[in-house]
Formats: sequence, C-alpha cells, structure tokens
Amino acid sequence: MWGGRFAAGPDAIMEAINASIGFDKRMAAQDIAGSRAHAAMLAATGVITDNDADAIREGLLTVLSEIETGKFEYSTALEDIHMNVEARLKEIIGEPAGRLHTGRSRNDQVATDFKLWVRDQFDAAEKGLLALIAALVDQAEAGADWVMPGFTHLQTAQPVTWGHHMMAYVEMFGRDLSRVRDARARMNESPLGSAALAGTSFPIDRDMTASALGFDRPTANSLDAVSDRDFALEFLSVASICAMHLSRFAEELVIWSSAQFRFVTLSDRFSTGSSIMPQKKNPDAAELIRAKVGRIFGANTALMMVMKGLPLAYSKDMQEDKEQVFDAADNWMLALAAMEGMVKDMTGNRESLAAAAGSGFSTATDLADWMVRVLKVPFRDAHHVTGTLVAMAEARGCDLPDLSLEDMQGVHAGITDDIFSVLGVENSVNSRMSYGGTAPAQVRAQVARWKEILNS
Ligand code: ARG
Repeated sequence: MWGGRFAAGPDAIMEAINASIGFDKRMAAQDIAGSRAHAAMLAATGVITDNDADAIREGLLTVLSEIETGKFEYSTALEDIHMNVEARLKEIIGEPAGRLHTGRSRNDQVATDFKLWVRDQFDAAEKGLLALIAALVDQAEAGADWVMPGFTHLQTAQPVTWGHHMMAYVEMFGRDLSRVRDARARMNESPLGSAALAGTSFPIDRDMTASALGFDRPTANSLDAVSDRDFALEFLSVASICAMHLSRFAEELVIWSSAQFRFVTLSDRFSTGSSIMPQKKNPDAAELIRAKVGRIFGANTALMMVMKGLPLAYSKDMQEDKEQVFDAADNWMLALAAMEGMVKDMTGNRESLAAAAGSGFSTATDLADWMVRVLKVPFRDAHHVTGTLVAMAEARGCDLPDLSLEDMQGVHAGITDDIFSVLGVENSVNSRMSYGGTAPAQVRAQVARWKEILNS
C-alpha cells in the first residue's frame, strides 16, 4: 500500500492492532458519498478530466451496491474502509481510481465520513426524543389530575399530579432535544479538502464539496479540521446527559412497578418473567436502559481520555473514536426506543397513586400554609405547630385528617373547622396554581404548550 517506501509488509500483530475495517465498515456509505463529492469537484475545477470523474462515479456506485448486497470482500490488510473502497474501485475501473485521492488525505476523509455518520445519529436521536416526548405528553394529558405523592429524599413530601411528574421528564428530554439540535448545527462544517493537515496546492473548491454533502460551510482551519473530534465528544456528552435522564426515569419505573409501590403496571410487551418464580413480572427493559447508560458514560470518558494528550494534528489514536461512538449511538437509540415503548404501554394505577398520595402526612405543608394565610401566624411558628400535630398523628398511627378539631385546638387554639378543607390531597394539588406548579390546570397548560411545539 505504501509504494516504494517499505521493503517488508507488516507483522501480523501490527496488522491486527492497526486495522479498523472490522468496525469502520459501518461508514461505507458515507465514505462513498464523500468520494463522489470529491471526484465531482476535482472534475469541476479541472484537476481531473470529466471522463475520469465519470468512471470514478460509476465505479463507486458499483462498490456501493456490492457493499449493500453483501458481496463486498473486506480485507484487513487494506486497514480501513477508505483503502478497501479505493482498492476495489481500482479493480473495477483501473487507472482513474488512482486520481481520486488527489488533493485529499485519509485524515480529512475519515473526519468527513465520521461527521456524516454522527450527523445521521443526531438526526436519529432527534426523532427518538420527539417520539418519547409525545408519549410522555399523552400520559400527562390522560392523568393530568391524578394525585400521587411527590418525593424529596424518596420520602413523601407533598402531593403532586401524575401529569406533572410526566411533564417533568418532558422538560428534561426537551432540553436534550435542544442540545441535540445545537450540537448538530455546530458540527456541520466540512473537513474535506483539509488534506493531511496543511491544505493542498490543487485549486480545489471546498464550498462545492461542503454543499454537496449537506454541510453549511467548509471548516476554516485545516489543522483543526483533521484533528478535531469535538463533534464526537459533543455527541457523547449530549447522549450522556440524555442517558442520565433515561436512567433516572428507568429507576423510577423499577421502583414504581414493584409490589410495594404499585404506581404503574408495565405492559407484558416490555416485561419478562422468571424461569423459576411463576408470579414474577420483571421490568427488564427499564433495568437494561439503566445499565446501558453506563456504557454511554464510559464511551464519553474513554474518548475524552484518548483525545486529551494528542498534539496537533492527526494521530492514529484517533482511530479509537469510532467504536466508542458506534456503541454509544446504538445503545442510546435503543434506550430511547425502549423507553418510548414502555411509556406508551404503561398504565398508571390511579387508585394506588391516590392512596399513596394521602399517606405520609403529605398535606402538612398545606396545614402550615393555612395557618399563615388564615390565622396570620408566622410561617416558622406554623411549621412548629404542624410538626407537633404530625408527631401526634404518628403516635396514634393515623393521618392528619383523622385528628379531631379538639386535638388540633389543643396545640393551637386558633385552628377552626376550615382546616379540614386543605388537608385533602385533591385540594392540595388544586391549590398549587403558581406557574409551573402541580395543579391540573397548570399541567394542562404545559401539555397544550408542548403539543404546539410537537406539531410545529
Ligand atoms: N483508519 C483511520 C482512522 O480511522 C483513517 C485515517 C488514517 N490516517 C493516517 N494518517 N493513517 O483514523
């Protein structure tokens, strides 16, 4: 491959450590698209003849169809997808194949191919996120007024609504969506024509190849272009944050579907059974999402480590970028789809949610707020009185609404019968009408806002 410079071929171990064809064949379509754009540009600028460009185009189409139909024979000796495609092109069209690599290097070629691949994955992530958000919005709409406990420290805090909880994840995945779009826009510059590192002396037209490949513009610095893997790192970072959200929700679904909680019933389609315990229905999809997130974080860290010590410009270390990104992308898309499927199919158990919503003194804050509002007691004092009443209820093994008016007046003489109107959970959630609060009316307003976003 290296012409006159080498007298001996590589050691078998050298070939094994050096070759990337085992994984970078996933970029075959991108490699051929990049080569077609490059060849057309070389002809347009007069660097190669139209006849050569035609032969190259036809040949590349043949190679592509061989790859798509599984007829292509990959060779480890040819290292990577770029050399494999070019070598086969040479077999098919002969001499003009040797002109394709004019004014480019594998360094700008691989950066271009990889960017095209990652760009497609950003688009797939956008689709996956939109579908998941739509499924969550549907759940929120159906249960906008279902009461459930809201937690802090996983201890009952205040009643919230099912719709509010679903919409919390809509906000998270909505930010992920905006990060996806943002990162995609930033990375959409073409490295092609940066050549090995310094640019080229041929009169190439980088705007032409950039626009043929759907890039917004060519990159502005050839050294940067061939050694930049920010786009892959941003992909992994965005994926990691989104995966963290997926994992938190997956964890909640695991807890919620347990016999102890019974907040949600996952569908059979997204659960598994046990080979020994006949009663079991396990939330495997949620557990696997939670686990796959670890791989995505790992990929992000791994590529950061690969890149952090590299001087400009290209170093072979950078070949290690692809497997990390491929694995993270596969698992991110799978996790998004699995979460969407689970959310679409799951049933919130309205009764269990409501029963849990009222337990654990969840309306204690409402009681304290009532004293502040009606009796004009300072909040800190109201907090103390309420705490005393909670301790009393706890000692008696009952909930706050089960205490009598006399009990309450024993702690604070000013309390009237009206207090019972705020101890109900429905009342509690309905009163949380501040913008972004848990009241069903607020939830419905957010559902409507998101439906508009999804339909635009
Ligand atoms: N297979 C290489 C990679 O994935 C392609 C670029 C090789 N460039 C080089 N100068 N050896 O990074």
